[in-house]
Amino acid sequence: MKLDHVVPWGRTRSEYVNMFTLTDADLAKKILGIGDGPASFNAEMTADGYSVTSVDPIYAFSAEQLKTRISDTYDVVMKQMQTNAEHYNWTAFRDVDELGRERMRAMNQFLDDYEEGKQQGRYQTGSLPVLPFQNRSFGLALCSHLLFLYSDQLSESFHLAAIQELIRVADEVRIFPLVSLNGQLSPYLDRVLVYCKAAGIRSEIESVNYHFQKGAFQVLRLTSN
Ligand SMILES: C[S@@+](CC[C@H](N)C(=O)[O-])C[C@H]1O[C@@H](n2cnc3c(N)ncnc32)[C@H](O)[C@@H]1O
Repeated sequence: MKLDHVVPWGRTRSEYVNMFTLTDADLAKKILGIGDGPASFNAEMTADGYSVTSVDPIYAFSAEQLKTRISDTYDVVMKQMQTNAEHYNWTAFRDVDELGRERMRAMNQFLDDYEEGKQQGRYQTGSLPVLPFQNRSFGLALCSHLLFLYSDQLSESFHLAAIQELIRVADEVRIFPLVSLNGQLSPYLDRVLVYCKAAGIRSEIESVNYHFQKGAFQVLRLTSN
């Protein structure tokens, strides 16, 4: 992955809790955050004594490189958000400026934690569809804003391989959202559900109390036997 292809944008622990309906029992599990990027979920969870391992290709870069990239791309992303503002519900965030402040807060918290977390193995460089973990290494795998969202860039076979890999390494997998960037359900969702049924993986779609991108308010929960 090249640094100039990275557009960092990270969410907070409270957003993860709402997207994935995380209960106290869920938080206490050994959690894998796949594609966590510059989210502050890992930093905030670690500060409270929980166990999160984040895996993302951008962890090949140093804190200094990611910090520079965040400041180089921030204005561009904010401009895109202004242009596309009607595709989002402005309730949890009043406007694009408030969103930007919240995203920067998350990314700064990530940056402050990143080098230490890397040394502790909490931020690991890696990419779906192949993960360097033994079967059932985690109680819960969370995938926020990667699978389904980028259906235009990531193929159906990538989605199937990625989901197979996630369910191999974790007892339960949750994926949010189920829509692509255009706000429509991913064209791969049905195929994934058919695959899960055939493979004996229990799938449930649940509406959640998080609805920022219009159409994005459902989480997919997958549980293997
Ligand atoms: C839109 S960001 C979401 C970041 C974070 N999950 C959040 O919700 O705030 C998507 C992330 O997926 C990562 N990513 C892209 N391809 C990936 C892959 N094949 N495996 C794992 N992560 C990937 C990107 O580097 C980026 O950090």
